[in-house]
Amino acid sequence: MFLETPLYTALTDYQKKKYASFHTPGHKNTISFLKYNLYDLDFTELPDTDSLFEAEGCILKAEQTAAKAFSTLLCVLSAGGCTMCIQGMLRLAAPSGGKLVCSRIIHRSAVNTMALLGIDPVWVMPEPNAGEGLAGRITPEGVRRALEKNPEAKGVYLTSPDYYGVICDIQGIACVCKEYGVPLLVDNAHGAHLGYLSENLHPIHLGASMAACSAHKTLPVLTGGAWLQINDSRYLEGVKEAMSLFGSTSPSYPVMASLDLCRAWLEEEGQKAFQTLERRVGAVKKLAAAKGLGIPEGLTDPVRITLNTAKIGLTGQKAAQGFRECGVEPEYADDGFVVLIPSPFNTEEEFLRVERAIESMPVGAPLAIGRRIPPVSGQAVSPRKAVLSPSEEVPMNLAVGRIAARASCPCPPGVPVVMPGEVISEKAAEFLIRYGFSSAKVLK
Ligand SMILES: Cc1ncc(COP(=O)(O)O)c(C=O)c1O
Repeated sequence: MFLETPLYTALTDYQKKKYASFHTPGHKNTISFLKYNLYDLDFTELPDTDSLFEAEGCILKAEQTAAKAFSTLLCVLSAGGCTMCIQGMLRLAAPSGGKLVCSRIIHRSAVNTMALLGIDPVWVMPEPNAGEGLAGRITPEGVRRALEKNPEAKGVYLTSPDYYGVICDIQGIACVCKEYGVPLLVDNAHGAHLGYLSENLHPIHLGASMAACSAHKTLPVLTGGAWLQINDSRYLEGVKEAMSLFGSTSPSYPVMASLDLCRAWLEEEGQKAFQTLERRVGAVKKLAAAKGLGIPEGLTDPVRITLNTAKIGLTGQKAAQGFRECGVEPEYADDGFVVLIPSPFNTEEEFLRVERAIESMPVGAPLAIGRRIPPVSGQAVSPRKAVLSPSEEVPMNLAVGRIAARASCPCPPGVPVVMPGEVISEKAAEFLIRYGFSSAKVLK
């Protein structure tokens, strides 16, 4: 019937491989509680279906119900991912730019938004306290020092959990923010489920003013579904206007409906489902540790599986191949790590595949994965100027001494080595070459 459907064909071919999904989205393509095919619910703004950015009917009701369920003052839907929530959050806190105290563990969606809004980040570097090869956490003391030096800062922005499940001391940082009268904004892309664990680790319940939650990563939500949660009375006005500045005027109804369904599922089953998952993942982590694999240290998301495979002499890519041979597709792999994202929708049979893969990993001498990030070099021009000015791509060795037009961020540790507007130092270029960056975009 059809001539060529390269994307559709790739997806259906991939589906035929029947890998156990240990990557996003959290619904794992098998939602038993769905009564309808969400394709059938792909409607648009109609008199009966409300409108996301001018919500006054069923969407407003869905958002109010979500706010109540998540015990927050306001919860708004996003069909534009956590990205749109981060955009809205930054616009609310710094509507016309200015300084923002900011963890250097930062996703490119925030980098781009800061550039567009004219926000100048004041960096707080993470302390390497999560184990070898990982960035670590920013601390309340680090945030205090930055606020002390920058009393005009509009707020504090951080990522927690990070990609590897490493969680910051949100309560401690929120106390410091309160003292200085500034909001705490949390990129909680990887932590939408944190309120349903045996210990409630959700940032909005630990004192954050706003949290951008990428529901589709760990929960049964279609890709692109996210919530912006606000629990600070200073920011209850203007959120829709802030998000509509960036979002499409045609948000997907199936995505928004999946957020509504997920919230109802969480209310009914969330605690039980995630606490069961916590125990199951705990057993996997125990097995991994007994095998000699490294796991992040300190406070971490109990349902994220981050394995330092270099500790047993395996690159992450090699280990990922082993997972695939056992029928498991991981979320991410590099020269030293593999990350798996489980959810309550993974079956016991799928967890047994994961365990089989871990058991069959060969054990050898540890690989060196020194990842000492070079010091941040000076900001020559603002991120806004750097991103919006004419630029050119040059080989990395010729980029030394030039001004970066884009962020360069090896993952892990997930910390940008160079941000737009910073001068590319020799050390930064060497580091980036080691992590496979052969060129950089620099200002002309
Ligand atoms: C830490 C972090 N923040 C934000 C985002 C953006 O989320 P989304 O893809 O839902 O827009 C991501 C996506 O991977 C992320 O890892």
